[in-house]
Amino acid sequence: MNISIVGVGHVGLVTAAVLADYGHTVMGLDDDAAKLEALRSGDVPFFEPGLQELVDRVTADGSLAFTGDLARAVDHAEVVFVCVGTPGLPGGGPDLRFIERVAVEVAQHATRDVVLVEKSTVPANTGARLTQVIEREQQRRGSDAAAVHVASNPEFLREGVAVKDTAEPDRIVYGTASDLARERLREVYAPMVAAVGCPVVETDVPTAELIKHASNAFLATRLSFINAVANVCDKVGADIELVAQGMGHDARIGHAFLQAGIGYGGSCFPKDVDAFLHLSRSVGYDFGLLDEVRQINAGQRQVVLDKLRDELWHLTDKTIAILGAAFKPGTDDLREAPAIYLAEALLEEGVTVRMYDPVALGGVATALPDVKLFDDPLVACRGAHAVVIATEWEQIRSLDLSELKAALGYPIVIDGRNCLDGRAAMDAGLHYHGIGRGHLRS
Ligand code: UDX
Repeated sequence: MNISIVGVGHVGLVTAAVLADYGHTVMGLDDDAAKLEALRSGDVPFFEPGLQELVDRVTADGSLAFTGDLARAVDHAEVVFVCVGTPGLPGGGPDLRFIERVAVEVAQHATRDVVLVEKSTVPANTGARLTQVIEREQQRRGSDAAAVHVASNPEFLREGVAVKDTAEPDRIVYGTASDLARERLREVYAPMVAAVGCPVVETDVPTAELIKHASNAFLATRLSFINAVANVCDKVGADIELVAQGMGHDARIGHAFLQAGIGYGGSCFPKDVDAFLHLSRSVGYDFGLLDEVRQINAGQRQVVLDKLRDELWHLTDKTIAILGAAFKPGTDDLREAPAIYLAEALLEEGVTVRMYDPVALGGVATALPDVKLFDDPLVACRGAHAVVIATEWEQIRSLDLSELKAALGYPIVIDGRNCLDGRAAMDAGLHYHGIGRGHLRS
C-alpha cells in the first residue's frame, strides 16, 4: 500500500519504518526542517534502540522516504496516518490544533479517495470533529472535492522497545464507520497479522479512541495503586516486592506493572490521565479516581524528599547526586521525568544537584543549566551528602556497593526504583532506603 505518515516524531517515525519493513511504500512528512534534514541525511534525531538500523534499511531499499510537502504526501497515499503532537493544555485537555490543521490540509489536497487515520492519542470525540472540519472543507471545494474517510488506530508502543511493540503488537485496534477505510486498514495490517498472529479489534471511531484512553489510564492506576501500597509497606515494615509478587500470582491480577517507585513519567501516562479526566468531566462524568491517580504519582516525589529530610534534616547547602534522568531506562526522554521534578525541587531549596545519566544529559543541560552533569555515576556521587536513584539503568543497578559507599560523603542511598539489592547495600554499610522496603528497617 502507499502510505503517508504526517509527523515523524517518536510514534510517527517508528510506525513509518515498521510499515515500510512490512512491505508498504511509505512517505514520512514533517514541517520541522531540521528534523527532515537529519532524516534525509540518514540520522534518527532521537534515541530509540534498533530504530536507526531499521530506518537505514528501509530508506536504502526505497520503501521509506521523507518530504516536507503535504500535497506530495497526500498525492502518494491511499492511507494517511496522523502522528502529530497533542501537547497538554493548562486546563488538562490536549491541544488538537495540529491534528485539525492536518485534516483540513488533507481535505484541501486530496484528489482521490483517501483514508485519514488518527494515531495520535486524542479524546473520544475527535473523530467526529475531524469529520466535521473535513466536510466543511469539502463543501468549500464543491464538486472538486475527493472523499476523506476518517478512522482511529491508536498506538500502544513503549519508548525504548517501540520498534518491537510496533512490529509485534499485543493487539491491533482500529475504528471507523467507513467500509473503504476498514478494508484499507485490514490491508495495511495483513502482513503484520500474518507474521505475528495478534488479535485485531475492529470498532467504531469513539470506541477505538476510548480503548487507548482506558488502557493508559488503567496502567497508570495500577502504578499509583502499587505505589500507595508501597507507602503503607514503609510504615508497617513490609516488603513491597513480595507483596507485588504475591498479588501477581493471582491470574486475574498478573505480575506486570507492579514495580513500585518514584512514580511514572513520560510523554503518555501523565498527559493521557489528564486528558481522560478532562474528557470525562467535559461530558458530565467526574472520574475522580484519575485525580487520585495523579496525586499519588506526584506524591511519590515527595516521598523521596521526605526520606532525604529524615536523613539529612535540612537540605539547603547540601550536595545530592541523582542517578538517572530519563523517565525510564532505554530512552533519553525527559518529559515528565521524576528526576527532573526532583532536581527542580532540590535546586529551589538551595541544594547543589549533581546528575548522571548514560544518554540524557544533553537534555538536562538545556532544561536545568544549574545541575552539574557527570558521565560516571561514582564520580557524580563523590563527596555527596546522599544519592537518589531515579532511573533503573543497568549501569546504576550494577554499581559496586563498596565503591558507592567509598565515593559518597555520607553513605545515604534513596533507591527510588528499588533496583539495588537493599540487604547487600546495608551489609556494605550504606543507609539504604527503597520505596516500600520497610522490612529492611524493622
Ligand atoms: C506507555 C504505555 O506503556 C504505552 O502502551 C503507551 O502507548 C505510551 O505510554 P511509555 O510511556 O513509553 O509507554 O513507558 P512505560 O514503559 O509504559 O512506562 C511508563 C512509566 O511507568 C515509566 O516512568 C516507568 O518507569 C513507570 N513504571 C512502569 C513503573 O514505575 N513501574 C512499573 O512497574 C512499570
